Amino acid sequence: MVRLDGHGPWLASTPDLVKQVLTDPDRFDFPGDVSRSGDLSGSVGDTRSGHTVFAPLTPDRVALGSETFDEQWQRAVEAHPADHVSFDAMELLRRPVARSTTAAVLPAIDEQQRNAIGDLVLGWIDALGPVISSRRPPRRWSRRRRGETRARLALEAALDGLPGRGQSAAELSAMLAAGIQVPIAAGAFLLAWLGSHEGGDVDPVHVAWETIRLTPPTWITARVTSRLVELGGQEVPANSLVLVSPLLLGRHPDLVPGDPETITHFDPDRWRAEGRRPGAWLPFGAGPHACPGRNLGMAQLVSLARWGLGREIILSEPATIDQSRGIFPSPCRFTAAPRREPPT
Ligand code: HEM
Repeated sequence: MVRLDGHGPWLASTPDLVKQVLTDPDRFDFPGDVSRSGDLSGSVGDTRSGHTVFAPLTPDRVALGSETFDEQWQRAVEAHPADHVSFDAMELLRRPVARSTTAAVLPAIDEQQRNAIGDLVLGWIDALGPVISSRRPPRRWSRRRRGETRARLALEAALDGLPGRGQSAAELSAMLAAGIQVPIAAGAFLLAWLGSHEGGDVDPVHVAWETIRLTPPTWITARVTSRLVELGGQEVPANSLVLVSPLLLGRHPDLVPGDPETITHFDPDRWRAEGRRPGAWLPFGAGPHACPGRNLGMAQLVSLARWGLGREIILSEPATIDQSRGIFPSPCRFTAAPRREPPT
C-alpha cells in the first residue's frame, strides 16, 4: 500500500492487494455515483453501499450485441467519403458501440427504439463529460449540471416507456452509459495502437488484450474504507480513499510475459507465450462490481481488431491521451487502406 502525497489517497500497488480491495465490499465500499450529485436515493441493491449489482450479460445478449456491432461498424465505414480522408476514431465508433450495447442490454426492443435510445445515451455521455471533468462538482443550477440533468431525464423517460424492461430506468441508464463510453475509448485506443504497429500475422484476441493492458479506459478506480483496515501490513484509517489501477498492474512484470524492458511496448504477440493469463491486471475489475459487460466489450474489440488487421492503418497525426474522464485518445484520426499482400 502506498500513501500518495503524504496525506492523500492510498494506492494498492500489487495484484494481491488489489484483489483484496475489490473483492471485499464489507471493508472497501463503492463510492458515490457517476453524476457527482451525491444523491444516491434512487439506487437499490444488495451491496453494503446500496448500489445495484449488475448481472453479467448472458451469452445470447453478447451474441446479439456482437452481431449488431459488426453490422453497424460496416455501415459506418462504408458511409465514409473516401479511403484517403481521415476517420475520427472516437466519432466513428459512437453509433456502432451505442447500438451494439443497447441491443445487448435491451434485446426485446425494435431497431428504431434501439437507435433512438443509443442516441439518447450518447447525449447523456456527452453532457456528463464536462460534469465529470470539472475540478469541483458543478452546482445544482449551473449550465453543466442542468445540461446533464436534461439529458439524463430524456433518456430515463424513453426507458420508462419500454414495456417489461425488468430494471429501473436509472439502473439501465447507468449500465448503458458504462457500456458505451468505455468500449468507444478502448476501440479508439486499439485503432491508435494498430496505427503504430507493423501488423502481420497477429491474433485479434491478442490485439484486444494488449490494448486494454496498456491503455485500459478505466485506468483507475476507487473504494472507500468503511472502518480501520489492515492491508499489506499497514493500517488504513476508516473513510480513506483506496485507489486501484489496472493500468499500473498491466505494467507488473509478474503478470506480463516477455522482457520487462519492453513491457510498455505494444506487442500483441507476447500473448502467444504459454503460461501467463491475459486479464490478470483486472482491466474489467473484480468482485461484486466487476464489469458485467466484459464479454461484449471483448467481442467488440476483437471484431474491430480483425477489421484493423486487414488494413493498413495510418495515424494522420500523433494520438495523445485525454485523461479528463477515464482515458481516451484525442485526437485519434487515421486512414485505412486495404492491406496489400506481399509479392510472392
Ligand atoms: C472494453 C470494454 C470494457 C472495459 C475495459 C470495461 C471496464 C470496466 C471496469 C474496470 C469496471 C469496474 C469499475 C470498478 O470496479 O470501479 C467496469 C464496470 C462496469 N461495466 Fe464495464 N467495461 C467494458 C465494457 C462494458 C460493457 C460493454 C458494458 C455493458 C454492456 C459495461 C458495463 C459496466 C457496468 C454497468 C459496470 C459497473 C458495475 C458495478 O458497479 O457493479 N462495461 N467496467
